[in-house]
Amino acid sequence: MSSKDKMLITGGHPLVGEITVSGGKNTAVAVIPAALLCNAPCTIENLPDIEDVHALIDILRLLGAKVEYVPECYMRIDASTATGCHVPYSLTRRLRASYYLLGALLGRQGMAEVAYPGGCDFCSRPIDQHLKGFAALGADIHDRGGVVYAKADKLVGNDVFFDVVTVGGTINVMLAAARAQGTTVIYNAAKEPHIVDLANFLNSMGAKVKGAGTDVIRIRGVQELHGCTYTVIPDQIETGTLMIAAAATRGDVTIRGCIPTHMEALTAKLLEMGVRVTENDDSIRVRPQGIQRAVNIKTRVYPGFPTDLQQPMTSLLCMAQGVSTVSETIFEQRFKHLDELRRMGAKIKLMDRTVLIEGVPELYGAPVTVTDLRAGAALVVAGLMAKGVTEIYETSYIDRGYERIEEKLRKLGAEIRREPI
Ligand code: EPZ
Repeated sequence: MSSKDKMLITGGHPLVGEITVSGGKNTAVAVIPAALLCNAPCTIENLPDIEDVHALIDILRLLGAKVEYVPECYMRIDASTATGCHVPYSLTRRLRASYYLLGALLGRQGMAEVAYPGGCDFCSRPIDQHLKGFAALGADIHDRGGVVYAKADKLVGNDVFFDVVTVGGTINVMLAAARAQGTTVIYNAAKEPHIVDLANFLNSMGAKVKGAGTDVIRIRGVQELHGCTYTVIPDQIETGTLMIAAAATRGDVTIRGCIPTHMEALTAKLLEMGVRVTENDDSIRVRPQGIQRAVNIKTRVYPGFPTDLQQPMTSLLCMAQGVSTVSETIFEQRFKHLDELRRMGAKIKLMDRTVLIEGVPELYGAPVTVTDLRAGAALVVAGLMAKGVTEIYETSYIDRGYERIEEKLRKLGAEIRREPI
């Protein structure tokens, strides 16, 4: 990736005020391909206006679907004209979630040729469980030259037992199974909120999905799905990033339009640190109260502490009193932000998959480079905490998942802007 601009943050300003969270990125990237499963228009509301969404629009159009997108209003997808099944690397390299085209196209027409995905490169991210699921449904799978070829004369429901809990694998098999003949049962399924949201979207189109949000999901295939209008859930990782940024600047921020129950793991850790967090039906307020203490964190599948907040949380802990530990159990090498935080004065040691963080009284601004989306969020949080100016390079990673981030932070009082390089 090579961004044309850099982000400049002058730290030390407490974030204060109210902000509304955008629609969920990881829901959006599943729901948009899911619209290929029916031949009637689907209208999707509350989609975040981010790079990953734009990449998917390009893919759907290439396949022949009609897509009308009015950012911040709706996206209307009419897949009745879609005939393509080949998605080249020039498009899949733009986002990880392009692997959902495999499940969606298999479910739609029993045939998919999709190049292996690109996206955030923080460690090896296999898709063997996705492919195992498709094979269980009767698809013939092989790969050649970086492209996965999947073909089934008829998809037939079956039991799929995942060896690891996989968000992408669960979603992909749900997509393929929605129109298969008979019932598919996914065991050891992921339980993330966006899996429930995808199930709700599929059911709004007439699918028969039960059990999403538990570790056993049953999908009774139907012959045809119909169009619908659907609103995606708010982004829990953006919510979490804003909560962490509020705590990091010792500000007072109310995040509106979120679902507080999705945030329990983070809320519990912030409370343990000594941050004041109060919840209402659809808002969360984060305020300081005295010293912020070190805590220990271990990333886990939902409802555990999300790996996607591990990196921004590490930044926050850099100035907490005492020694914190952050263990990453989902992606073993999701630590590329640590060197950058060290440049800013953080005292951090990586031991195997655990980061030891010795709290320091201050961080200072430095030029730093983003290597993946949440590393970007971590550096923005660190920049907001630091004394002086932080220059953040490779901002396009951030734009893949955060809608208008600097506009939102500026509204809360941050001194943040972009400059061409
Ligand atoms: C999803 O990635 C999210 N991406 C990630 O969000 C998130 O970090 C991750 O789930 C965990 O919550 C999207 O939703 C588009 P997994 P995914 O399959 O589906 C192993 C962000 O920053 N595994 O749940 O790719 C894998 O290596 C991102 O928003 C296999 O071994 O993650 C990992 O250790 C980045 N074989 C674990 O399972 C497989 O076939 C969980 O991965 C699949 C996964």
